[in-house]
Amino acid sequence: MAVIEVKQGVLSVGSIHWERRLFDELIPIPDGTSYNSFLIIGSEKTALIDTVDPEKTRELLENLRKTGAKVDYVISNHAEQDHSGSIPAVLEKFPNAKVVTNAKCKGMLMDHLHIPEEKFLVIKDKEELSLGNKTLRFYMAPWVHWPETMLTYLVEDKILFTCDLFGSHFATSRLYAEEDAKVLEDAKRYYAEIMMPFRVQIRKYLKWIREMNPEIIAPSHGPLWKNPDFIISAYEDWVSDRLVNKVLLPYTSMHGSTRILVDRLINSLMEKGIGVVPFDLAKIDLGRFAIELVDAPTLILAAPTVLVGAHPLAIYAAYLTNALRPKLKFFGFMGSYGWGGKALDHILNQVSSLKVETFEPVMVKGLPGEEDLKKVDSLAEAIAEKHKELNIF
Ligand code: FEO
Repeated sequence: MAVIEVKQGVLSVGSIHWERRLFDELIPIPDGTSYNSFLIIGSEKTALIDTVDPEKTRELLENLRKTGAKVDYVISNHAEQDHSGSIPAVLEKFPNAKVVTNAKCKGMLMDHLHIPEEKFLVIKDKEELSLGNKTLRFYMAPWVHWPETMLTYLVEDKILFTCDLFGSHFATSRLYAEEDAKVLEDAKRYYAEIMMPFRVQIRKYLKWIREMNPEIIAPSHGPLWKNPDFIISAYEDWVSDRLVNKVLLPYTSMHGSTRILVDRLINSLMEKGIGVVPFDLAKIDLGRFAIELVDAPTLILAAPTVLVGAHPLAIYAAYLTNALRPKLKFFGFMGSYGWGGKALDHILNQVSSLKVETFEPVMVKGLPGEEDLKKVDSLAEAIAEKHKELNIF
C-alpha cells in the first residue's frame, strides 16, 4: 500500500490485503481487508500506531523506509496478531524503540510474540506521551474485543485511533469511507461478527467518544471516518435495544420433511405481516447471518435428527448464535426425526447463554401431516403475539 498523508505529520503506512477471504479461519470477508498502521511524526519523537499482519510485514517495513523516519515508539492498542504480529520486525529494525501499551496488553504481547520485557513502556488510562509538538493520550477500552484493548487519541490533530472498533473488512484504495450502503454493510458485518458480544461495554465507550468529539476516527481495518458522526450513529443504533419485526430461520433438511415445516412457517409468518429471513445452513454466509442477528427478536432453528442427536449444522448455528450474544428475545426449534433422540436437548444446551424465552418446539416423526402443520401455524401465532408485546409491529 502507498504511504498516504492523513494530516501533516500523520501518515498511513499499513497494508491492504485485497485477496483475503477468510478471517480466523472462520469469518468470511468477501471484500478483503486492510491492516492500518499510522506513523505520527512529532518535532522530537516518532510513534507507530499498531502494525500489520505478519503476512504483510515486508510492506510495512518498506513503507517505513520510504518515510525515512526513525521509530521511537510502537503503540500497541491491541495484542491480536493482525495488528501486533509485525512488532518484532519493527523492533529489529529500530532496536531502541519502545512498545507503548497497557499492562494487560504487555503480558499478552509477551505471551504471543515473545517480546522481551525490557522493550515495554507501560502506560495507564488517560496517560499522555509527548512527541514534541504532538501528544498521544491513551484510553483503556477493554473488551473491544479482547480484554487488553485501548484507544489512542492524537490530541492536537483530534484523531482517534480505535484499532478494531469502528473497523470494517473492506479493502479499498480510498483513505476515507464513502458514506454509502456498501461501507455501512461492511462495517455492520464487522460489528456483528466481532463486536456484538460486547455491545454493553461499547455503549459506554460511545458516550465518551461522542464527548471527545474527534475530527477523524482511524480504525485499523478498512477506511477512516472523516465524519465520525456517521459511524458513531450507526453503532449507537446497533448497540441499542431496537428490534425489527422479523424472524431468523436457519434450517437444514435431509429428506425434505423439515423443509416442509420451514416453508409452512415462512408462509404463516408472512401472512401475519412478520418478516422472515431463512438461511440454508449448508450454504450459509455467517457474516450475513450475523448482520441479521443485530436487530432480530426471534430465531427459529429447524433441523432434522441425525442418528440420535441434532444435525451438526444446527448445532454449529446454535453455538455461533450463543457466542455472538445478540439481542434475541425468543427462540424456537422444529424438526423431523425418525425414531427419537435428543436433538432438542442438544440444541438447547448450545444456547444456554442466551436470555431468551423458548417457544413450544415442533418435533415431527417422519413426514409432517396436517396436525403437525397446524402446530407450525400455532408457533407463528405465538411469535406474532410476542412481537406485538414488544411493540415492533
Ligand atoms: Fe483486527 Fe482483533 O484484530
